[in-house]
Amino acid sequence: MEPLIHVRDLCKDYRLTDRREGVRGGLLDLLSPRRRDLRAVDRVSFDIQPGEMVGYIGANGAGKSTTIKMLTGILTPSSGEVTVGGMVPWRQRQQYTRHIGVVFGQRTQLWWDLAVVESFRLLKKIYEVDDATYDRQMKLLDDLLDIGKLLGQPVRKLSLGQRMRCDLAAALLHRPRVLFLDEPTIGLDVVAKENIRGFLRGVQEREGVTVILTTHDLGDIEQLCRRVIIIDQGRVHFDGELSELRRRVGQTVRLSVDLRDPAASADLAAVTVGLPVNWDDETGLRHVARFNRAEVRAADVIRLVVNDRPVQDLHLAEQPIEEVVREIYRQAAANNTDSADDTGTGAAK
Ligand SMILES: Nc1ncnc2c1ncn2[C@@H]1O[C@H](COP(=O)(O)OP(=O)(O)OP(=O)(O)O)[C@@H](O)[C@H]1O
Ligand SMILES: [Mg+2]
Repeated sequence: MEPLIHVRDLCKDYRLTDRREGVRGGLLDLLSPRRRDLRAVDRVSFDIQPGEMVGYIGANGAGKSTTIKMLTGILTPSSGEVTVGGMVPWRQRQQYTRHIGVVFGQRTQLWWDLAVVESFRLLKKIYEVDDATYDRQMKLLDDLLDIGKLLGQPVRKLSLGQRMRCDLAAALLHRPRVLFLDEPTIGLDVVAKENIRGFLRGVQEREGVTVILTTHDLGDIEQLCRRVIIIDQGRVHFDGELSELRRRVGQTVRLSVDLRDPAASADLAAVTVGLPVNWDDETGLRHVARFNRAEVRAADVIRLVVNDRPVQDLHLAEQPIEEVVREIYRQAAANNTDSADDTGTGAAK
C-alpha cells in the first residue's frame, strides 16, 4: 500500500546566537555575533500507512515538535522530503491544511477572546465546510466531547481540559484525513486524559483518521498506538511495535512480594543469591524483584521466596512501558556519547 505519510532524511537546523554577558558583551554581540547551528531534526525517515495511529516520543528537546511543525507545513525543513497524501506540506500549504487537523496541547488554536462557537464558525468559513457537514460534525463532536455547554464561553475562561476538548473539536471540524497531535493530554487530570483517549480511539475507529501523536504520557501510547517512533537528539532510535520495543530491551518482569511480617523483610536479595535478580531497597511489607525472563524462571524466584519468607501475596507484571522507554533513552544517550568519542568532535552536545 502507498504510504499516506512519507518522510525521508528530514533535517532541521536552527541558527542560534549565543549572547555574551554585560555591556561589553552586548557590544561584541552586535559587532560579531556568536552564531552556531543546532540540528534539531537529523535525517529522520519513516512511512505511515492510512489509518495508523503512531506515537512519536522522545525526551524534552528531542525534536518532536520540530518534526510535527515541518509535517504540518508551519516550518520549512533544512533538507529532506515530506509528502502527505501526495502533497508537500510547506509548498502547498493552503490546499494541504484542508486535509489535516492539528492540535498543539501547549497552545490553543482558538481565538482567545472569542466565544468557542465563534472560532468554530470562523474555521467553518476558512475550511469552506458546508452547512450540512458542519451541523452533522458539530453534533457528533458534541456527543463525543460534550462541548455543547462550552460553546458560548470565551476560550480564555475555559479550564485546560475544556479547552483541549474544544481544540480537538476545532481540529476535526473539517473532517481531516490526518491528525497531528502534539501533547494533547499535557496537564490534564486522569479523568480528562481518559476522556481524550477514548475520544481519539473512537474517531480513529469510526473515521479511519491517520494520527501522529507526541506525548510524555506513555499511558497515551499504550492505550492508543501499536507503533512507536522514538527520537533522541533529532534521530530515530526505534521504529516498530510496542511489543518489539519490549523484546529489544529484554523481557524484564517485576515480581511484587507482599510479606505478612515486617520482621521478615531484611535482605531479600539473600533469598535469590546466585541468580541475576535485582531487589529494590524498600523496607516495608512490599518488595519488588526485577529479572529477565530469558535468564531466570519466574517460578524459581517465586518458589525461593515462598519457601523462605511469610508471603501474603504475589504479583507478576511486565515491566512498565515507562521503564522500557527510559532504557531506550539511556541506550540512545550512551550511543551518542560513543559516536561523539569516535569522531572526537563531541558535536551536537
Ligand atoms: N525556534 C527555535 N529556535 C531555535 N532552537 C529551537 C527552536 N525551536 C526548538 N529549538 C531547539 O530544537 C530542539 C528540539 O526542540 P523541539 O521543540 O522540537 O523538542 P521536543 O521534542 O518537542 O521537546 P519537548 O518534549 O520539550 O516539547 C531543542 O534543542 C530546542 O531548544
Ligand atoms: Mg515539543
